[in-house]
Amino acid sequence: MIFRELNRGKCKTYLAISAATGKAAVIDPLREKIERYLTVLAYHGWRLDLIIDTHTHADHRSGAMELGELADAPVAMHRLAPAPHVSIHVEDGQTLKVGEEELCVLHTPGHTVDSISLLAKDRVFTGDVLFIHGTGRADLPGGDAGIQYDSIMRKLFTLSDEVLVFPAHDYRGHTQSSIGEEKRSNPRLAGKSRDEYIELMNSLGLPLPEGIQETLQPNQSDLDAGALTWPPLSQLNQVRQLSSAQLRDRIASANPPLLVDVRQESEYRGELGHIAGAHLIPLKELPERTGELGNAKGRDIVVICRVGVRSATAAAILTGLGFEQVWNLGGGMIEWKDAQLPVERGP
Ligand SMILES: [Fe+2]
Repeated sequence: MIFRELNRGKCKTYLAISAATGKAAVIDPLREKIERYLTVLAYHGWRLDLIIDTHTHADHRSGAMELGELADAPVAMHRLAPAPHVSIHVEDGQTLKVGEEELCVLHTPGHTVDSISLLAKDRVFTGDVLFIHGTGRADLPGGDAGIQYDSIMRKLFTLSDEVLVFPAHDYRGHTQSSIGEEKRSNPRLAGKSRDEYIELMNSLGLPLPEGIQETLQPNQSDLDAGALTWPPLSQLNQVRQLSSAQLRDRIASANPPLLVDVRQESEYRGELGHIAGAHLIPLKELPERTGELGNAKGRDIVVICRVGVRSATAAAILTGLGFEQVWNLGGGMIEWKDAQLPVERGP
């Protein structure tokens, strides 16, 4: 396999090319550099076969969807990734083919719930979970320092010491490290217990990335800036959550809630299916279609999407528009399906 880092900046985008076939995978493309990637690919005669985002990015707009459209290449992410453009949902232990070569998926949550690392023969792409002499922050939506510690200790630090480490960010000019080097000298991890790591991460007091909602929300919904007014994180944190079992019971009760599914139509009719009776209003159309919710301002409304992320945004928007009894199906249709609750498919 041939490997290249394409950005020469603090955000890292990697290209992995099968030498025998010229087929290539791009990992974590930045939206503003798509033309550069296509130029490099064309210059070398490599064919873009696969695009992978290691997680839902909060600090830059992902180029995955647009690059996928331009190059006719599928986008792979973990199954808990919220964005609708993902066509290959992967899980821990799965392999992704690049020509005759393979990238093995390790689910390494903690920076986000959908974080994966990708193991090639001699190297691992660690996304924002493990950095060179650092780790990705665990305080953004979906982050959890304890889970991140477990991902690093149980998945990454059980790889061979010689495996090279290539993170999605580096702020200090490093270009590569190794598992052995990070085990020995990563200042956040070496000699630290799980509790010490959690305490350290929780005491960092980092400011939120500037304009986080204007980056994160489009990345997780495929909607461009201007499509919606994004609710601030503080409002999202106030959204009331229902589990799949709670929703099942509410649907069976004498006063069932109105179900609003905010995915795209292809998802609603697709493999995951939808809950019987759920009214489809894609997130983008929600503000102008609240009239369809009739006199539901006093009625209970439960908002639904793939993993509960886009629907949390929808719930905050509805609350802001004066709907008082709004809940989010936390975990979305993925959790509903995992709980083996009934779905409808097709039209
Ligand atoms: Fe990140």
